[in-house]
Amino acid sequence: MAITLNSGFKMPVVGLGVWRVEGREMRDLIINAIKIGYRHFDCAADYKNEAEVGEALAEAFQTGLVKREDLFITTKLWNSDHGHVVEACKDSLKKLRLDYLDLYLIHFPVATRHTGVGNTGSALDEDGVLDIDTTITLETTWHAMEDLVSMGLVRSIGISNYDIFLTRDCLAYSKVKPAVNQFETHPYFQRDSLVKFCQKHGICVTAHTPLGGAVANNEWFGTVSCLDDPVLKGLAAKYKRTVAQIVLRWGIHRNTVIIPKTAKPERLEENFQVFDFELSKEDVDLIKSLDRKYRTNQPAKFWGIDLFA
Ligand SMILES: NC(=O)c1ccc[n+]([C@@H]2O[C@H](COP(=O)([O-])OP(=O)(O)OC[C@H]3O[C@@H](n4cnc5c(N)ncnc54)[C@H](OP(=O)(O)O)[C@@H]3O)[C@@H](O)[C@H]2O)c1
Repeated sequence: MAITLNSGFKMPVVGLGVWRVEGREMRDLIINAIKIGYRHFDCAADYKNEAEVGEALAEAFQTGLVKREDLFITTKLWNSDHGHVVEACKDSLKKLRLDYLDLYLIHFPVATRHTGVGNTGSALDEDGVLDIDTTITLETTWHAMEDLVSMGLVRSIGISNYDIFLTRDCLAYSKVKPAVNQFETHPYFQRDSLVKFCQKHGICVTAHTPLGGAVANNEWFGTVSCLDDPVLKGLAAKYKRTVAQIVLRWGIHRNTVIIPKTAKPERLEENFQVFDFELSKEDVDLIKSLDRKYRTNQPAKFWGIDLFA
């Protein structure tokens, strides 16, 4: 199942997110995922594991498990590389061992002090606050992203963690419209207005953190997981599915692309088995009532400043 982007290319609605996947786990994870049917992988320079993804993909191509054109590979421009878009993209391509990307996203709407191409640390100033580069506008970064399309390095370009105002601006100054906006959304953080705005303007929404971050975000940020929600547990029992499957199916129901991360083989399979059932209208409405406007991914923890405040 795939969504056709405004660039004309198709994006599979379920992808595997690889943030916080250890390098040594990557080979088996990617090979297993491809065998299960995953054709979409969500990467980023900042995840510091592009080389391991690239190694696994190279093996998958060499052994004939899958062809390059059957996969959809996304990666993301890090904050400190906004002034070096072409070099950063080439660096990611080299690590991923690919000659084009299906999708390249601006990871966050903020440029920070450059510390070397592909060097994705978060530079902080002497007060421990993210060292934001005030000389680079998002418009400049976007035009450099557009150049990647004309150079043939990237098929579709998009944005990530943009709110309605920033997305609106991007639509205004772009020659190549953003194909995707990737942001956090799940039953506890539904963001209906942003989803509606993007979809109305032909921008596909990819839900990052589609499971609400579960144990991982609980450990990193102390957040509560929607996978423990009693109402969702009730729906899981009713449909004879897991809570994760109910939550992911809901993501598909609202026409978002979902990129759950797991490093566990049994969950890889579970998170992909979401195409053979549908939620009733009443149950979709019930999930709507669970919104807590609750962000679980909180980079402010590392940056000394809350970009979303
Ligand atoms: N653009 C951005 O700024 C941004 C930010 C955050 C994330 N992302 C992307 O979105 C992807 C997903 O986000 P995320 O990893 O933060 O959160 P997530 O996918 O919502 O949740 C991942 C957590 O859920 C657990 N999990 C996975 N499947 C499960 C299941 N079936 N049942 C119970 N628990 C399950 C995982 O543990 P196990 O691994 O142990 O299964 C992990 O603890 C990332 O990998 C990344 O590609 C993008």
